[in-house]
Amino acid sequence: MAEQHSSKSIMWAIIIVAAVLIAILFPLTNKSFESAANNNAGADEAELRIQPVARFQLAKVEVAEAGGAPKDGPTVYNSVCGACHNTGAAGAPKIDAKGDWTARLGAGNAALYAAVINGKGAMPPKGGAAKLSEDEVKGAVDYILSKVK
Ligand code: HEC
Repeated sequence: MAEQHSSKSIMWAIIIVAAVLIAILFPLTNKSFESAANNNAGADEAELRIQPVARFQLAKVEVAEAGGAPKDGPTVYNSVCGACHNTGAAGAPKIDAKGDWTARLGAGNAALYAAVINGKGAMPPKGGAAKLSEDEVKGAVDYILSKVK
């Protein structure tokens, strides 16, 4: 009798534990079904979940760039110089207006490089991107010259 009683209470204990587990786990599985059913929400959720990792990777890339390969002329132009030279902002000679350049070209490439490296008028030294190497600046000037000559 006593043996039967204890095995009965073990059975009840197992049933109760199983019920509690199901009560805890079912909402979780249900949630993942929901996000799987709605593909867009699922993608957003996935993006949110990987975001810190993606940020970390970006930071790593930036560090690599700072000490890494030099940027080529078009890249430097588009990220730094275009802000003024695409639109003529601050009175900058425009990249698509050859007339803006005719007088300046006469000074020769060396003078143009020096003007950008040291700054000239409203243009800050290196176009405001102090991190650029002189070769990167020259590459950007060469890119402009290839468009305006
Ligand atoms: C903040 C706006 C601005 C940015 C950014 C800028 N420039 Fe300029 N740039 C100017 C202005 C304004 C002038 C005209 C300066 C003058 O003649 O007084 C100029 C002039 C020049 C000239 C002609 C210099 C001369 O001696 O006549 C070159 C070449 C040039 N920029 C290249 C660049 C390059 C390459 C970059 C990117 C690394 C750059 N600029 C970024 C505003 C800018």
